[in-house]
Amino acid sequence: MDDVKEKYLAQIAAAGTESALEEVRLAAVGKKGEVSLKMRELGKMSPEERQTAGPALNALKDAINEALAARKAALADAALEARLAGEWLDVTLPGRSRGAALGTIHPISQVWEEVTAIFADMGFTVAEGPQIETDWYNFDALNIPDHHPARGEMDTFYMHRAEGDDRPPHVLRTHTSPVQIRSMQDKGAPIRIICPGRVYRADYDQTHTPMFHQVEGLVIDRDTSMANLKWVLEEFFSAFFGRSVKTRFRASHFPFTEPSAEVDIQCSFEGGTVKVGEGDGWLEVLGSGMVHPHVLRSGGVDPDEWQGFAFGMGIDRIAMLKYGIPDLRAFFDSDLRWLRHYGFSPLQVPTLYGGV
Ligand code: DAH
Repeated sequence: MDDVKEKYLAQIAAAGTESALEEVRLAAVGKKGEVSLKMRELGKMSPEERQTAGPALNALKDAINEALAARKAALADAALEARLAGEWLDVTLPGRSRGAALGTIHPISQVWEEVTAIFADMGFTVAEGPQIETDWYNFDALNIPDHHPARGEMDTFYMHRAEGDDRPPHVLRTHTSPVQIRSMQDKGAPIRIICPGRVYRADYDQTHTPMFHQVEGLVIDRDTSMANLKWVLEEFFSAFFGRSVKTRFRASHFPFTEPSAEVDIQCSFEGGTVKVGEGDGWLEVLGSGMVHPHVLRSGGVDPDEWQGFAFGMGIDRIAMLKYGIPDLRAFFDSDLRWLRHYGFSPLQVPTLYGGV
């Protein structure tokens, strides 16, 4: 038995891997292992023989199991040591620079957020509507009936229906004004919203792109007036351009407002550059007016009880003015050099306390 013990203890000490160790275990104390087979023979022995052979075999088995367990633990420790040594990491190394791969926020997105932050501070919430509209929301509900000249002037993109389908066509919305109707239908009065969004017109030259951006404003209450409109707009432009900006209201006509006004902001054109909030020149930036009773009715609001103002402004236009961007079309060229030059850091989220 001592020979058997020596043999297995030597094999256990020599086993260099867990699977080699497992083989030794099976050969010694596995079900058909040498020691197990010997123990089975105990039954055939005389009681006297069994009395000495039994404890000796048990002691042998214990010794082998103990050696197996110790070797197994030693192998596991060695494996862990090897891993710790191999996977060592110097956490004091400087990080990899990601500067080159970092994108920028498009100036339109930046201005969109700036406009939203300023109006939010005045108690406006943001409303949205679909870019594919029915012609009822885009025109009729806004007091632009069929055959009204304003329909022709808008260069509308119509979405054609299948032949034989004579339901009215869908259009790509030509302005954000239909969101006025949807918002009144949803929320009723009083209401105080802006709706920034994409709009579409079939027009393309130096100052027009077929897709551009507007922000609509709508305030309805019991006695909201043109005076409130003028204050809101002056407050907005001064916050947006970061200096006091005078506005000029010119009488105009829109089907959805009565009276209507086009609004210019003060600027100088000296030296071939445009400077907002200086000089005695004027630049048109938006259309506005008191919401027409027909429009209130389309939105389910009673014009005998409620009144208010609306305005629509080009986001791209005011972005160009604020950030000195000369060509509208470059906004949509996706030229990386342009985007890096005019884009904003993703961390520069516009807030009123951080500055817009
Ligand atoms: N929807 C007009 C346009 O796209 C702009 C506009 C003018 C909107 C007057 C208004 C408004 O809300 O009152 O040309």
